[in-house]
Amino acid sequence: MMLSHIFGWNAKENCLPLEIVYGSGMRVLLIITGSIAAEKIPDLLHKLKSNGHSITCVLTRAGAEFIIPDSLERLTGNKTYTELFTGDDGKEMGHIRLSREADLVVVAPATADIMAKMAAGLADDLASTLLLATDKPVMIAPAMNVRMWENKAVQRNALILKQDGVLFIGPESGDLACGEEGWGRMSEPKQIADRVEKFFKRKDALKGLKVLVTAGPTIESIDPVRYIANRSSGKQGYAIAESLAAAGAEVTLVTGPTSLPKPHVAKIIEIESASEMLDVALKNLPADIAVMAAAVADWGIKNPAKNKMKNMPELKFTENPDILAEISKNKKKAKLVIGFAAETENLLGNAKKKLLAKKCDWILANNVGSKKVFGSNENKILFIERAHSEQWPEMSKIEVAEKLVEKIINTLGRKNEKYKVISKATA
Ligand code: C5P
Repeated sequence: MMLSHIFGWNAKENCLPLEIVYGSGMRVLLIITGSIAAEKIPDLLHKLKSNGHSITCVLTRAGAEFIIPDSLERLTGNKTYTELFTGDDGKEMGHIRLSREADLVVVAPATADIMAKMAAGLADDLASTLLLATDKPVMIAPAMNVRMWENKAVQRNALILKQDGVLFIGPESGDLACGEEGWGRMSEPKQIADRVEKFFKRKDALKGLKVLVTAGPTIESIDPVRYIANRSSGKQGYAIAESLAAAGAEVTLVTGPTSLPKPHVAKIIEIESASEMLDVALKNLPADIAVMAAAVADWGIKNPAKNKMKNMPELKFTENPDILAEISKNKKKAKLVIGFAAETENLLGNAKKKLLAKKCDWILANNVGSKKVFGSNENKILFIERAHSEQWPEMSKIEVAEKLVEKIINTLGRKNEKYKVISKATA
């Protein structure tokens, strides 16, 4: 039985819950498709069960090559389903019932094949049929060879699924079962179980809110071939965009060039220069929240050459627009504007100056002088608002994103008239 949110989210009144209380006992429908990563499923089942959830498994024919229904039934205590037509279930439309009874559908491991079926809307077995029939959120943990994952068809399907609102967990980059290395490794059971927990805790907390996120570097052309850029990887901004979307926000991500897999958000707009980023950002206002995580180049090239330069140029620079400051002062500005500050000295002092100069609400400051931050998976944030600052311990960029989203959920209710807390805890 689905446990209720004690603090309800009321989309019509744009009210945010102060805190969402959920309990164990959610129902997960786990679809297992044919990948060697299915070997990790017993561990995943153990973790989901420890968190108190009830799991029903569906195995595809290929999935059954890696794990047998009996094991799954023993591990879950529930019947495992494999066939679309069993002959004994004809009256009650088994696939509809299975897909509707769940609170969440998880496909792990998700092969390129099931992704293609989902993207195309095919329904030729039990798994694909109930994925079409479900009215519940679907989360997938892809697992495949790196060349398969990078294949244009798979990427196209991944994009379609993201646009359709399918939530992705991974894949990760690392050693693959086939002996190759790269993107395509299924996320670890702990990551999947944690993501499921977060989903149950957060889902819908920011529903109905529009968020603008900038991420990555900007690049400034010298000529059609060369440019200047910075070391931003985009990892922090992408993680924030992803976490906001997972909390139900409608996220528009404006991103400079990065080599990262695209996050699963409503809209992604790719730009190159700071002035393009400003144009696109302004066009995507109004928003309820703006998170300016991009490392915007402070200076552009004055009069970039139209043709490839043949001699060493003497570069002249021109000041770029300050996107964060523009968003903060823009009439249609977001209700909550969050900036970043990458500093090499006097972190608190310089970041505080930035907060006041750019008139944003919060700054997430980090020291990029002492340690590698650009491109790394970790970050150590000093969180600053006007009258308060707090040091966050070093954590992964994903954890930073989660912590920030938690803060947004807990704060927005108090900060804006529009977002009134509708009830207090009675539990
Ligand atoms: O690069 P810096 O540490 O000054 O960036 C501080 C904040 O200002 C960041 O949130 C960044 O996205 C934003 N910024 C901007 N436009 C600029 C420079 C920085 O929006 N031209």
